[in-house]
Amino acid sequence: MSVADAARRRRSRSKVGPSAPDRAQLLDLVEAAATVADHSGLQPWRLVELRGDDRLVVGRSLAAAAGEADDPRAVEKLERKALRAPLLLAVVSSPRESRKVPAWEQESVASGVAHLLSLLLDEAGWGVMWRTGSSTRAPEVHAAHGLAPHEELLGWLYVGDHDGRDTKPRRPVDPARFVAPLPPGLRPAGSGPADHGPEGRAPAPVTDAG
Ligand SMILES: Cc1cc2nc3c(=O)[nH]c(=O)nc-3n(C[C@H](O)[C@H](O)[C@H](O)COP(=O)(O)O)c2cc1C
Repeated sequence: MSVADAARRRRSRSKVGPSAPDRAQLLDLVEAAATVADHSGLQPWRLVELRGDDRLVVGRSLAAAAGEADDPRAVEKLERKALRAPLLLAVVSSPRESRKVPAWEQESVASGVAHLLSLLLDEAGWGVMWRTGSSTRAPEVHAAHGLAPHEELLGWLYVGDHDGRDTKPRRPVDPARFVAPLPPGLRPAGSGPADHGPEGRAPAPVTDAG
């Protein structure tokens, strides 16, 4: 399958079964995902592999961050959410000291690894869903995952098996909405007509307000 076909076929799976890639299978895909573009090759990322009861730290720390650590029902609810997949991969941006590569570039690398790993897992037949929560970067969650002070959490990849049933078809994307030349007036004089799309039309803003 071509990369383009794999990208078009990929869908997040919110419901997954109890099987997960074993460590060897996972490391094989992580090795492939580690090939993303990486300014200065700093490798500024890591994954925390959570299986079995280790997954409970996610729900417990999210409850603590919400001030609900003493409410057993709230804790149990969040614990159950973290048990929705047999394998959780906490994605950690782990920036290195660099005068050349700022933290935002390094976080982009960590994000790229997570996206590519999601695609590779999907292509290998696993169900994946990248999830976060409003408390993803709360100190309680940070501490529960053993992050160093300079590290940041980017959320969790929930991974498990699925029955192969097709998910809902994806809403078609009009790529031309996202690609435009410079706005008129910003293009250097004499640069000729822009023959590759409507000039400088920024895409209409999209909101999640419904
Ligand atoms: C950083 C990040 C965090 C996300 N967090 C959530 C989340 O907490 N809950 C959720 O339903 N979807 C979340 N999503 C979106 C899903 O992972 C998924 O992309 C979305 O449901 C669309 O499905 P698709 O990947 O098949 O297009 C997140 C995606 C990213 C990149």
